[in-house]
Amino acid sequence: MPESGIRAGILGLGSYVPEKVLTNRELEKMVDTKDQWIVTMTGIRERRIASPQQATSDLALEAARKALDDAKISPAEVDLIIVATNTPDHLFPATACIVQDRLGAHRAGAFDLLAGCTGFMYALSVGAQFVESGMYRHVLVIGAETLSRIIDWEDRNTCVIFGDGAGAAIIGRVPEGYGLIHTKLGSDGSGGQYLDMPAGGSKMPACRESVDNKMHFLRMNGREVFKFAVRACGDGSLEALKSAGLALNDLDFLIPHQANIRIIEAAAKRLQLPMEKVLVNVDRFGNTSTASIPMALEEAVNRGSIKDGDNILMTGFGAGLTWAVTLMRWYDYRSGNR
Ligand code: UT7
Repeated sequence: MPESGIRAGILGLGSYVPEKVLTNRELEKMVDTKDQWIVTMTGIRERRIASPQQATSDLALEAARKALDDAKISPAEVDLIIVATNTPDHLFPATACIVQDRLGAHRAGAFDLLAGCTGFMYALSVGAQFVESGMYRHVLVIGAETLSRIIDWEDRNTCVIFGDGAGAAIIGRVPEGYGLIHTKLGSDGSGGQYLDMPAGGSKMPACRESVDNKMHFLRMNGREVFKFAVRACGDGSLEALKSAGLALNDLDFLIPHQANIRIIEAAAKRLQLPMEKVLVNVDRFGNTSTASIPMALEEAVNRGSIKDGDNILMTGFGAGLTWAVTLMRWYDYRSGNR
């Protein structure tokens, strides 16, 4: 329990995906790939692609509005907005500031957070600190991506994997015994080269050469990221359960970052969880990076699968390299006993 005696948890959820669906069959016409390869190797069947008019802030805003409705709070009640993204509208100003303005959250501070696909988990943890210290009542945390903008649509190693989307959560005070019980954030910067976008920053500013050499696209060594994910999230999950004094069979749901069904299945096996207890959306949305976990959580809550008091483990990994594990006891804010 934090010294303040305040425990932070989720009090509202929202998500948004663009309308356009890109199927594996369509990708077969774009690069040398096969639907069967994509399904077998990744579990992905289709993904969403933002329209040319949509930037990351547009997706984030839609998800944020739904999360505010779900939490039954107004924009003026938001104290802080954190947008976790790898595809901000601009290098600056922060996408969070664009969302703040368009939402009309006139009291809120706002900043972006960059931690690869683990960004939402990092942002959740940062937001929770503000609530648990007593400084803020409501923090809006968003994971939003338009990864389609930094994909090389001629590179079959990456273009079949990613999709666009956004998920948002309102973090606030929850009753004793509920909320974010344990969080561990981790990183290994020595693996940074395994997943990066080389140009567009101070190291390699945009120039004709950087564009000609396709340096503004995402590059990935999938195999190395895969190994890191299985190791870091597996060890982190067991550590989280141990530190919370829980046994494997106390776990009700696992929400892994939706990168690849094989990574998800490996995590489930390590935790001895049947796949019915594992939330999966990678089949329909691909890897939506920072949006994948809140999107999967919202879907399960909407479906009524998650019950008050359920123990939920969330695991994320991604560029940095970074990883995070959060154990949460679900507070059913929709039942209204707040
Ligand atoms: O959110 C965090 C971000 N990233 C990830 O989580 C990615 C984690 N990694 C993965 O999901 C997997 O590594 C991939 C699905 C990306 C790839 O699976 P893999 O088992 O690591 O395969 P690989 O990259 O070693 O490629 C195996 C073969 C290669 O052919 P050769 O060299 O064996 O002839 C690739 O060229 O599969 C080929 N390949 C493809 N074939 C058809 C790679 N991409 C494709 C494709 N269609 N789209």
